[in-house]
Amino acid sequence: MRMEMKSNFLYLAVLILGHLLLPGFSTVESPPYTVAHLGPDYEIRLYMESSWMSAPVQGTSFEKFTKQGFHRLYQYLHGTNLNSTQLPFTAPVLTSITAPIQGTLYLVKFYMSGKNTSPQPNQELDLELEKWRPQCVAVRKFSGFAKDDNINEEKEALVSSLNKQYSTGKNRLGNDDSFSVAQYNASHHLSGRLNEVWMPVQDFTADGCPTSSHGE
Ligand SMILES: *[C@@H]1O[C@H](CO)[C@@H](O)[C@H](O)[C@H]1NC(C)=O
Ligand SMILES: *[C@@H]1O[C@H](CO)[C@@H](O)[C@H](O)[C@H]1NC(C)=O
Repeated sequence: MRMEMKSNFLYLAVLILGHLLLPGFSTVESPPYTVAHLGPDYEIRLYMESSWMSAPVQGTSFEKFTKQGFHRLYQYLHGTNLNSTQLPFTAPVLTSITAPIQGTLYLVKFYMSGKNTSPQPNQELDLELEKWRPQCVAVRKFSGFAKDDNINEEKEALVSSLNKQYSTGKNRLGNDDSFSVAQYNASHHLSGRLNEVWMPVQDFTADGCPTSSHGE
């Protein structure tokens, strides 16, 4: 029984990530943004107001818990919601990682297309709709698979680039310990993969980013 569930789940995970890349799915929506600043090995993006369906997961392994959260989001998109509505896939799959004292908290998220209102998820999925105000995010791209072994390195590289660029003035990073990993490709694509590390930044007013205490 357990085995069966597990292999079903693995199959689903491959299937849904596969959907993101099939030629017919080239219209997969992503959250809209503009580039506010282009750095040497990173960029600052201004993301517009958006909604994300978010699955909270507790744990210590990025890979394992991304799959868990992803599975719940998959069910939601496939009709496990109060209106039994089938919803479109979006990209990327975003895993936000915060490291408070008691174990790491992961939130696995899907961007909800702005065209439809999101039906309420069934309670057993334990999902929450997250509303983002317009916000600026520092982004570093990396290839290959996003794994427990490399995501921290990529995040440190982003922090180091930002610190180099902005060594004077105040720290523009929201919180050094919080970051997100965006994954764009299906697991069966072994090369040409795109992932990103995202960190929220503040006070890029000159580049059109909203300040933390909104106002001009
Ligand atoms: C879900 O269904 C209810 C009742 O039919 C309807 O009022 C509501 O607008 C629907 N919500 C969405 C997000 O489609
Ligand atoms: C991975 O996703 C990115 C962004 O959507 C796309 O540009 C790239 O071609 C994809 N890679 C493969 C191997 O399909």
